[in-house]
Amino acid sequence: MFNQVTQNILRELASGEFCSGEQLGEANGVSRAAIGKHIQALVQLGLDIYSVTGKGYRLSLPLELLDVAAIKAAQDVALPLPIVVESVIDSTNNWIKQQISRGALNHSPSGTTVFSEAQTAGRGRRGKQWVSPLGASLYLSTHWRFEQGISATSGLSLVVGIAIVEALTKLGIPNLGLKWPNDVYYQGRKLAGILVELEGQGSDSCDIIIGAGINVHLPENVTQDIDQPYADINEVGLSLSRNHIAGRILSHLIKLLNEFEVSGFSAFVERWHQHDCFIGQHVQLQMGQRQITGVAKGVDTQGGLLLEVDQQVQSFFGGEISLRKLSS
Ligand code: BTN
Repeated sequence: MFNQVTQNILRELASGEFCSGEQLGEANGVSRAAIGKHIQALVQLGLDIYSVTGKGYRLSLPLELLDVAAIKAAQDVALPLPIVVESVIDSTNNWIKQQISRGALNHSPSGTTVFSEAQTAGRGRRGKQWVSPLGASLYLSTHWRFEQGISATSGLSLVVGIAIVEALTKLGIPNLGLKWPNDVYYQGRKLAGILVELEGQGSDSCDIIIGAGINVHLPENVTQDIDQPYADINEVGLSLSRNHIAGRILSHLIKLLNEFEVSGFSAFVERWHQHDCFIGQHVQLQMGQRQITGVAKGVDTQGGLLLEVDQQVQSFFGGEISLRKLSS
């Protein structure tokens, strides 16, 4: 259950002040019991709300809700592209897919972007879920059309990783790195993930959905669902605004996607290597049932992983590849 009343309550709570159940009920024309159910729905979406008798409900920490005007104001280059902010949807990638299938983006320039405060079915790579509590992180998807078809997209997801690392570094976050193909790391733990999906086939133009999840301030009650070491921006201690981070990441992403469309991935190889956490290290590559060990040598001009195996450097591609540091 998430409707206009839930939305109104969320806005009231965001200030971090106490909100009385009675006043919330009166303002929304519903009973106090109904307010209790909306509060429960917000808790289930990941908000840390507590109540004190006689005072009402309060968030454990104030929450900066996403806002289109604030995201646009934060962009370092003003972009005349549609930005949508949703409160709760299944997945921002699905939202873009639905727009594509309805033909709603047929006449739009590339770059339409949706953010959501929460996702109920956030998707990660290799069929994993992406934990997406309300207000805790950034979940965004951008639509891009490639007129030359799928062949023009190799290396694209790596460029998205570069865009996120560069934008966050410019905001003052140190010690960021990239793990092939496109995980963003902070001090050796995952800070952001990228899911690039394709609509359309063959050599005709194709629609690409570029999804990114960036951990901003993960509440403790969701972290048990994350199956790998994780990091969030909050731990860096810079108290950055979510809207500001969103605007900076989006404008840098759009800039790099425009460059990528003209030059392809070869123009980004050096930038990738500057942030590659694994270059020169002994690694293990898991491709389905197959395991390959070697020394990571960076990436090639198509975005493939270069691995030196038995003194020969080979490229590896594909969604099933995972990269693991060997313990020694
Ligand atoms: C990964 O497994 O590392 C990829 C995670 C991608 C998560 C983002 S959040 C926004 C967009 N919508 C989704 O359902 N997934 C991506």
